[in-house]
Amino acid sequence: MKAFEAGWGGAVWKTMGIPVINVSSRYGAVHHRDSRMVGFNNIELISDRPLADNLREIEEVKKYFPDHAVIASLMVQSRAEWHQIVKDVENAGADGVELNFGCPHGMCERGMGSAVGQEPAVLKTITEWVKEVAQVPVIVKLTPNITDVTDPARAAAAGGADAISLINTVQSIVGVDLDTFAPTPTVDGKSTHGGYCGPAVKPIALNMVRNCAQHPEVGIPISGIGGIENWRDAVEHMLLGATNVQVCTAVMHYGFGIIREMKSGLIQYMEEKGFETLDDLIGKSVQLVQPWENLNLEYKVTAKIDEKKCVGCQLCYIACEDGAHQAIGLHKENGTRVPYIIDENCVGCNLCSLVCPVEDCITMVRVDDASRSENWHDYVENDKAPTTFNDDRAGGKHHWVPEPKDALRK
Ligand SMILES: Cc1cc2nc3c(=O)[nH]c(=O)nc-3n(C[C@H](O)[C@H](O)[C@H](O)COP(=O)(O)O)c2cc1C
Ligand code: SF4
Ligand code: SF4
Repeated sequence: MKAFEAGWGGAVWKTMGIPVINVSSRYGAVHHRDSRMVGFNNIELISDRPLADNLREIEEVKKYFPDHAVIASLMVQSRAEWHQIVKDVENAGADGVELNFGCPHGMCERGMGSAVGQEPAVLKTITEWVKEVAQVPVIVKLTPNITDVTDPARAAAAGGADAISLINTVQSIVGVDLDTFAPTPTVDGKSTHGGYCGPAVKPIALNMVRNCAQHPEVGIPISGIGGIENWRDAVEHMLLGATNVQVCTAVMHYGFGIIREMKSGLIQYMEEKGFETLDDLIGKSVQLVQPWENLNLEYKVTAKIDEKKCVGCQLCYIACEDGAHQAIGLHKENGTRVPYIIDENCVGCNLCSLVCPVEDCITMVRVDDASRSENWHDYVENDKAPTTFNDDRAGGKHHWVPEPKDALRK
């Protein structure tokens, strides 16, 4: 109810089912330099409160907030249990159910959670069981711990799911205590793999959301989850096909109040772009993700340093010299620490601009004249692709290969 008062439109209730048990401790994190919890990890199971308590509270929440969506997340085993619990939460007033086929720890060892999400045929069967009785929409929540997430997504659609949600957490160990040798989080000197989430997993989630959104056999709405902390993250999920979004770690970290910035930021973005409804932006980026072979091989950018912004840290020089293409030079004589780009060596990889600590100091500038476009298919068709290692055409594009002795002299 605090969340709804703060401005959230709905909530997915902590997964209900059995057993009602947990360990202590149960959370771990990856801190990176000055940032706390860039990745978060838990070995928590489902709700550790009895079903009756949860049902009573769902009912109470719906009484106070009839127009807010309350989705009951569920995880049980047998067909009879699924039928019973779906009816129970519906009677309590839940607006929908979400089937937790994603939890990668504790429950999967007993054949639930991600154990179901990794077996599309089983997932489809259980979805059908739920659909036999459900009067409210059924959302199937998917695990990312699988090679191709569109397999369970298609199974969910085939089983009659009204929507899918993804991602649940990524199986992980976040660290090891170097003195006790026990991985974290630690329970009486031992640990177990947990589920990873938070900002670090957003790229994995975006890719999976997009893969489901583009697949013609999925074709149902997608609730995007994973690493959403602010309105920009939410918009990215929606541009790649999510029809709504869910937030977990960021609320645990910063509290319910983050919704205020998320809403105002989203509204301002929509006004600036001229979007009247969310439908105007949902899925806009889906078709802009293409197989590599469709990319334009003639498109070429090179790095450009803004000398006025440069603080002379030379991080770009080190990165390009040792990790890219030796395309950044230093003025050794005139005393300036501002580096320069050796245009003919630069392959336009972006590394220096990513390393540079000053915003917009290194930009990537288009240098081809935009008159030609050639993708891999054209390349092969135009007989440019090498067929053997010694083929004259195998030299690669845009590569300058220094003599080893020149490299060592530096
Ligand atoms: C402490 C914790 C408990 C979670 N419990 C559940 C759960 O009971 N059911 C579920 O479907 N997902 C659960 N999740 C997964 C989240 O709902 C979400 O899918 C995942 O954390 C990714 O989103 P995020 O990056 O916003 O955290 C839990 C995550 C955390 C961190
Ligand atoms: S990393 Fe950026 S600021 Fe540092 S030397 Fe290179 S261009 Fe200048
Ligand atoms: S874009 Fe890549 S190759 Fe070009 S200067 Fe930067 S790091 Fe070097």
